[in-house]
Amino acid sequence: MTSDPILISLPSDKSITHRAFIFSALSDGPCQLKNVGNGADLGSTRRVLSQLGIKINQENQHTWIVYGKGFMHPFQQSPSPLDCGNSGTTSRLLMGLLGAQKINATLIGDASLSQRPMLRLGKLLNQMGTDIQCSDQGKMPVRINAIDHRIKSGQYHTQSSSAQIKSAMLLAGLYADGEVEISENLLSRDHTERFFQALGIGIQRKNECTVLVEPIHQKIPAFDIDIPGDFSSACFWITASLLSQKRVYLQNVNLNPTRTGFLEIIQKMGAHFEIQNLRLYFGEEIADLLIYPSNLKGIDIDEHLALRAIDELPLFAILAANAIGTSTVKGAKELRVKESDRIEAMALGLKKLGCDIEAREDGWHIEGGVLHGGAISSFSDHRIAASFRIARLKAQGKILIDDESCVDISYPEFNRLFDLCFRI
Ligand code: S3P
Repeated sequence: MTSDPILISLPSDKSITHRAFIFSALSDGPCQLKNVGNGADLGSTRRVLSQLGIKINQENQHTWIVYGKGFMHPFQQSPSPLDCGNSGTTSRLLMGLLGAQKINATLIGDASLSQRPMLRLGKLLNQMGTDIQCSDQGKMPVRINAIDHRIKSGQYHTQSSSAQIKSAMLLAGLYADGEVEISENLLSRDHTERFFQALGIGIQRKNECTVLVEPIHQKIPAFDIDIPGDFSSACFWITASLLSQKRVYLQNVNLNPTRTGFLEIIQKMGAHFEIQNLRLYFGEEIADLLIYPSNLKGIDIDEHLALRAIDELPLFAILAANAIGTSTVKGAKELRVKESDRIEAMALGLKKLGCDIEAREDGWHIEGGVLHGGAISSFSDHRIAASFRIARLKAQGKILIDDESCVDISYPEFNRLFDLCFRI
């Protein structure tokens, strides 16, 4: 008789939760946000909004009330720099939103965020009419100067297919003197577009990579939202299921098609899973997932698939290292400017565990096999730490990880739950 699948309920979708806090601050009254995860990145967005004068109260462990102040002049100038911690999404979305306001602000972050590129977004926003200065290295601190004109309508193109960049431009576009058209080379995750639509903000997709946003004319009504589970956190469990050959059942997972590249990846590798109870909520596709034990083979990932699985590629590297045959990833250069250089971090770690892996400019070449034990560094990056913790399930030896507490950035309960569910 087969045992019941391991049942996991997930923390809230991190991308949607950041947006829910920010958009509720622009709304016309109190909004209730339910099923909010405890990750430190979400704390960064709350902290910064509070510094800007937005009242945010915690009702219970996973429920928050945000007292929106309307979209016209929602923020008061903060006397101290706005500390975005480790959170790229907080910093980039706020650059777009604050750049269009009549207040000055300075954004700072932790050691990792301070090394990440801000200039490419700063330049695009300045084309739109903001007055933003990055450090000489194009990084933090980011100084945002008040403007007393509207953002310029027109057509803008971003070379980086990044949802953080696109979302920042869309937020600035809300304060434009006419329609703003934003295009990217490949479609990045589209949570902002879907959320805008659910809130009645004028947004329209012109073609796959181009979106049009109208300046806001009418109020954003107060809204309540029960945030669906985070697909990226779900992928931790999917990977654990596939390595351990234990069935896992994940409830209420956000399956936005711009995010679900990892499901396509594991399917190509030979994995079996079921998508159940597919439903629509707040413009997003939500479902339950049942993952079956499966044997995996190596595959090739191109830039389209890589973009739709960008945060899950470290997990893919772990699966590929344990699969039969060769895998490659191309077109994932963006991994080099995440919370760590994830191409190097995974290659260094997997090499220490005996994997034949080559880091390339925009991806990896990985020979599948059997991992042994070893001491690796997470580079204090939550997704690297979680990936190597999961690798313990199949490694023939102990994997020591220097900083595992950094998973708190997205999923503070993960380490304890993982050890409990998989009896490590
Ligand atoms: C995010 C976008 C992605 C992703 C990040 C969250 C977002 O980054 O890696 O974890 O919420 O917009 P890109 O800006 O590179 O798409």
